[in-house]
Amino acid sequence: MPPLDTPPQTGKPNELESYWLPFTANRSFKKRPRLISGAKDMHFITPEGRKVLDATSGLYCVNAGHCREPIVKAIQEAAGRLDYSPAFQFATPQVFELSNQLALMAPGDLDYVLFANSGSEAVDTAMKVALSYHKIQGQGARTRFIGRERGYHGVCFGGISVGGMVNNRKAFGNMLMGVDHLQTTYNRSKQAYSIGEPDWGAETAEELLRLIGLHDASTIAAVIVEPVQGSTGCIPPPKGYLKRLREITEQHGILLIFDEVITGFGRIGGAFSAERFGVVPDMITFAKGVTNGSVPMSGIMVRKGIYDAHMSGPDYAVELFHGFTYSGHPLAVAAGLATLHVYKEEGLFERARTLEKPFADAMMSLKGMPHVADIRPIGMMCGIDLDSVPGKVGARGYDALERAFFDHDLYIRLATDTIVTAPPLIATESDIAQIRDKIAALLRSLD
Ligand SMILES: Cc1ncc(COP(=O)(O)O)c(C=O)c1O
Repeated sequence: MPPLDTPPQTGKPNELESYWLPFTANRSFKKRPRLISGAKDMHFITPEGRKVLDATSGLYCVNAGHCREPIVKAIQEAAGRLDYSPAFQFATPQVFELSNQLALMAPGDLDYVLFANSGSEAVDTAMKVALSYHKIQGQGARTRFIGRERGYHGVCFGGISVGGMVNNRKAFGNMLMGVDHLQTTYNRSKQAYSIGEPDWGAETAEELLRLIGLHDASTIAAVIVEPVQGSTGCIPPPKGYLKRLREITEQHGILLIFDEVITGFGRIGGAFSAERFGVVPDMITFAKGVTNGSVPMSGIMVRKGIYDAHMSGPDYAVELFHGFTYSGHPLAVAAGLATLHVYKEEGLFERARTLEKPFADAMMSLKGMPHVADIRPIGMMCGIDLDSVPGKVGARGYDALERAFFDHDLYIRLATDTIVTAPPLIATESDIAQIRDKIAALLRSLD
């Protein structure tokens, strides 16, 4: 065994084989690796020292920009003070503070927080809480979930069951039983180049009534949607759509879960997008921006009635048999508190609202550029659909990702053939102009 103070040796310097990259074309990556070794504010830094403009906040998580000093310091301090504290039957003082702050930020009476570590875990947590709630209410037959086509709710079995992106589902068997899906709200012929919420599409919410007619409300636990679909390529909700889902779910005793893993923490303007859309769901899932992407953390916010319903039985008894070893981890909590402080001090949610128009204008100015088929800005997020190469769906997107990184010093997220931009909320108008110009140059360079 090598001495403990030497770094791990593989015997093969620069060997790329052992690491199986998630959600990645591994063979292409390993032929021409895209390596990142540092980051500051709006940029990634490559091992050779190249600065790459981050147009998608990493994976929609670095809302306050990279390696922000107050957040870095808080994590360092926490690591030296309390490395770990058991998540079950014990708690740190700080985790209460973070929960209180989140409760103040959430709409309505979503005043209770249950922590997890990833968006996927948050989604499965919300689904389990929905089942548990109905069982406590004497409605244990409510076990069905309704998701939506093109939805993304992470990669655990609950999340892929309610999710609606076919590649994330097709290899994984039957998943959860008793799940149905609303149709997508996206119809290019009716809503192409809409800014914000499209005028067409609220009527697609009526399909929920058809599904209720088919399954009966008494079998349905919850409807789960992303207020703005993110991973599929940024699809904003049609005007009135989310309000209609709320009306129907309320009328039928069905819980409504907003998956705000991307849309939370300023991305769409407010702390949560529920606020912008004027809808109070029964649960909100969050992750990513809660710690500015710095330490894994996620969670769910639940309405008081759901929490209260669980607070029954003898008071020595565990009320919900669910949780993770790292729920409310001290480093994540420290990062979360520091992140919320930065958001507040710097007014980043308000800043997102101010930047929304210049950002939308910049993205819409790409209309008419080569390969562009639709552009969908909302808040500080935008999907730019490119025409697919006939018979090779995803090939143009991959080419765009590679060329952006190597030739244009630009990091963008690709959803198949859709470019998604979601810059950190500290972006200046000049950063936004640079993102726009780099994408324009990229589009001109694509075959
Ligand atoms: C809406 C939504 N839900 C869940 C997830 C899963 O989050 P994670 O990758 O942290 O598991 C994501 C990730 O992008 C997401 O966008």
